[in-house]
Amino acid sequence: MIIFKEIDALQSFLAGKDEIGFVPTMGALHTGHLTLLQESLKHSKLTICSIFVNPTQFNDPRDFEKYPITLEKDIELLTNAGVDAVFVPTVATIYPAGLNKLETYPLGSLEKLWEGSYRPGHFQGVCQVVSRLLDAVQPHKIYMGQKDFQQCMVIKKLIELKNISTELIQVATVRETSGLAMSSRNMRLSATEKTTAVTISQVLDYLRDHINILPISLLLQEAQNRLMQAGFKVDYVGIADASTLEPIVQIDPKRDAVAMIAAYLNEVRLIDNKLIYTALQ
Ligand code: PAF
Repeated sequence: MIIFKEIDALQSFLAGKDEIGFVPTMGALHTGHLTLLQESLKHSKLTICSIFVNPTQFNDPRDFEKYPITLEKDIELLTNAGVDAVFVPTVATIYPAGLNKLETYPLGSLEKLWEGSYRPGHFQGVCQVVSRLLDAVQPHKIYMGQKDFQQCMVIKKLIELKNISTELIQVATVRETSGLAMSSRNMRLSATEKTTAVTISQVLDYLRDHINILPISLLLQEAQNRLMQAGFKVDYVGIADASTLEPIVQIDPKRDAVAMIAAYLNEVRLIDNKLIYTALQ
């Protein structure tokens, strides 16, 4: 596997290559990332991964400082997985003009809802970095995990705004056998916290299993109680239209619905979601 730190060298390597699959990451790789990479390896001629902890998408500086960095292990994992190249740029390579006065993207209500309202500026930061990475790699396909459901929608919008032909491939969330969604942030959980963290997935299952039985307002109240009793500080638990992410108060049989949770377990903020209703054909 070739390691690139500079855009020019990466682009010379990629020149004339077709069917490039791209998996952008912030490192601290886990089985979820490896699943994205395996999808790309299966369906692309060349697979590129990027590792870059993007400062502009962290609205909380403590979260940025504590983001796990495991570069050596990541490179070993990528090599063993058969990835062709990894791009590991510095902040100056990605943001040569500095971190002030960066561009903003017209994301509409997408950046105000859910994650957007608790992490102001987060999705602008995601677009700033992913836009630069897409320019550098010019992939045919970009692979992203459904665990970041709203981020996938933001990247779809970014691709539209950039008017490029890259196809977004959304890959199902990979879970531990306990149900806990895999996340780099899980590395910051103690063994006891990891057991408690499973509650998030269980609450999402509760919402899925009762969506046709109880009113959404009652379901959300119960979900909130269960999370709080388990020791979470809840940012949000909600049910939304899966294609607009607008919150819903009742199921529309013609539209898919997604349940989403963001909550702190002590210092660690976890997010997860599940599709809980599939539209009748
Ligand atoms: O999901 C992530 O790890 C990041 O938000 C991404 C897409 C790599 C951009 O920094």
